[in-house]
Amino acid sequence: MTSTRLRDEGKIAGVGISTGTRAQVKQAIAQADIVCAQNAFSLVDQRDGDVLDLCHDSGIAYVPYFPLGSAFPGLPKVTENAAVRGVAERVGASPAQVGLRWLLARRDNVLLFPGTSRLAHLEQNMKIADVTLSDDDIAELEKGV
Ligand SMILES: NC(=O)c1ccc[n+]([C@@H]2O[C@H](COP(=O)([O-])OP(=O)(O)OC[C@H]3O[C@@H](n4cnc5c(N)ncnc54)[C@H](OP(=O)(O)O)[C@@H]3O)[C@@H](O)[C@H]2O)c1
Repeated sequence: MTSTRLRDEGKIAGVGISTGTRAQVKQAIAQADIVCAQNAFSLVDQRDGDVLDLCHDSGIAYVPYFPLGSAFPGLPKVTENAAVRGVAERVGASPAQVGLRWLLARRDNVLLFPGTSRLAHLEQNMKIADVTLSDDDIAELEKGV
């Protein structure tokens, strides 16, 4: 595998894989000592939760792509979800901030990289450390999506 050779030669610090199934991620952890996996995951698409949990339990990072549901028309959007909007209004944050904060609360190995074309959204997304979600908020989000 070329990327493990680059790592072994000291040219890159670590190797990750993207869009792997649970079995593939498990194999990559065992055979290639990967440091992260990157798959689609968000409040409105939690199908990859078992891979997130596998990464957590294996001590590697999980990088959710489409953390807000993506920019693609037709895919569900975190910011349009009624439960997300309700919690956002209550806690005084934007729906995007609530969706991103939930991801960080889901597991402590989550690394975020939401996409945006707007500086104002970038600044807002970088302030999610200021957003606090209670256990009740999280339960409401998970029940409502
Ligand atoms: N590994 C892979 O196979 C893979 C696949 C897909 C994507 N990715 C990567 O994953 C990252 C995220 O994916 P993505 O950008 O497609 O999806 P995303 O982060 O889930 O969603 C981006 C969308 O959210 C909107 N948005 C961002 N911040 C917002 C805010 N504060 N308020 C309201 N709307 C907000 C953006 O609109 P505005 O532009 O108007 O802010 C854009 O429409 C990217 O870096 C992408 O390259 C990787």
